[in-house]
Amino acid sequence: MGLRIIIFGPPGSGKGTRARLIGRLLKIPVITTGDMLRDEVSRGTEIGLKAKEYMDRGELVPDELVIGLVEERLRRPDCSGGFILDGFPRNLNQAEALDRILGEMGVKLDLVLNVVVDPEIVVERLSLRRWCPKCGAIYNLKYDPPKVDEICDECGARLIQRSDDREEVVRRRLRVYEEQTRPILQLYLERGLVREMRGDIPIEEIPREVEEVLGPYLKETGVKAPKSGI
Ligand code: AP5
Repeated sequence: MGLRIIIFGPPGSGKGTRARLIGRLLKIPVITTGDMLRDEVSRGTEIGLKAKEYMDRGELVPDELVIGLVEERLRRPDCSGGFILDGFPRNLNQAEALDRILGEMGVKLDLVLNVVVDPEIVVERLSLRRWCPKCGAIYNLKYDPPKVDEICDECGARLIQRSDDREEVVRRRLRVYEEQTRPILQLYLERGLVREMRGDIPIEEIPREVEEVLGPYLKETGVKAPKSGI
């Protein structure tokens, strides 16, 4: 049995950075709705064409587009041993849809990792983010640069800057988070699923923080972390 985890937090808090790390450690798939939507946009699919205008404005893409994508992904066989959801759910309707989907699959969430950070920090961070459109690796020109300028360490593709990382769009994304996403944390607090992570620690300390938060949980539940060192 693997863990079923949500990574929760505002834009730029470091959800994606942690999700990739935990996914590698626990050998479970990472489901990043932002990456899935960006992939639809770059392939020019019907979903991508509709999603793009919302993403460019920093608003949530309509639920009917996102929920179907997530449901299809969660029902694939590789999610039977656990998964990490990064960027979903983002409003009450999505949280209810997730409960329904997991109920139908006969499984439950184990953990919600809430990354807490001061919104002012993220504006600077996101202006310096670079992202690999091929493998999804995340970099920061100041805090976590690639070894070779603008080239992905992991797959060699050319890095890009996300079009929604401009300051005015980041501020809109932060407002959307406060209004629509943060309130649903209450649901998971009531279920006793939430563990906090500090989004303001130096990036090189994130692996140790992950170990501190997940280690005791893995021991308690007997979930095995294959070759992870946790
Ligand atoms: P999405 O791609 O999910 O973006 P987000 O939630 O705004 O989060 P980010 O990816 O910007 O940040 P992150 O927390 O993952 O931080 P990261 O680790 O990259 O969504 C984009 C859009 O898609 C949405 O606006 C919406 O339109 C749409 N969408 C997606 N899901 C949806 C849904 N469910 N429903 C409807 N619409 C949806 O780190 C950020 C930067 O900081 C990086 O450069 C990193 O290197 C750096 N960094 C990380 N941690 C640290 C640290 N401790 N110190 C210094 N730098 C750090």
